[in-house]
Amino acid sequence: MANRKTTGFSHKLIETNVALLIILSILVISFAGLVQIVPLFFQHSTTAPVQGVQPYEPLRLVGRDVYIREGCVSCHSQQIRMLSSEVQRYGPYSLAGESRYDHPFLWGSKRTGPDLARVGGRYSDDWHRVHLRNPRDVVKESNMPAYPWLQDRSVEKTDVRERMRALRKLGVPYIDEQIEKAPEALKGQTEEDALVAFLQGLGVAGRDEAARAVVKGAL
Ligand code: HEC
Repeated sequence: MANRKTTGFSHKLIETNVALLIILSILVISFAGLVQIVPLFFQHSTTAPVQGVQPYEPLRLVGRDVYIREGCVSCHSQQIRMLSSEVQRYGPYSLAGESRYDHPFLWGSKRTGPDLARVGGRYSDDWHRVHLRNPRDVVKESNMPAYPWLQDRSVEKTDVRERMRALRKLGVPYIDEQIEKAPEALKGQTEEDALVAFLQGLGVAGRDEAARAVVKGAL
């Protein structure tokens, strides 16, 4: 069929012209991306907080910043996927609405240590303190670094009000009264207290069956 003529737009034309192939690929991928991503901005199940999920209280907020500063996210993810092996190990899979007030998200992608999305309430505060000061004291084979200095560093002077105001600009509904009172919650607390408070609240609200049912109903 050597004499078959190709007229106008053909696969051959695209496949033999690298620039055109690149441009059209980008167009197709962008369009597909928009179709998949844009609806998520308007979907209740991805934009509304799961029932019971509240903006971080001042102490937990400061603890979260310690978590970010110390790079815990480089070894710990905070998202349980919908796979049965994950759900059996860590608990109910994570819902988008549980991260509603997270700026930035700490979902992570590296799991040198276990996922922490539902670690809240799994251990006592004391366990966490011992573990943070020297992980080997509670888990002999652990390769997690020790963070003994956190217990000596006060959080009283943290600029927590500014942090809350900045988050409010990003859409976290803190009210003036909460921001005014925030430093009181930090009196006498250390970075270790703040970090433990943060860990103990992780995934607690989203674990509740009734709250999850509301989201699933909206899907
Ligand atoms: C170099 C990697 C690494 C870093 C960095 C790291 N961890 Fe870990 N973490 C681990 C490993 C491995 C384990 C499992 C052994 C253990 O329990 O110590 C673990 C376990 C944990 C556990 C217990 C989880 C469970 O379900 O048993 C908590 C809580 C925890 N880490 C918190 C933190 C916090 C908070 C930070 C930051 C201050 C941090 N980790 C930094 C590696 C890391």
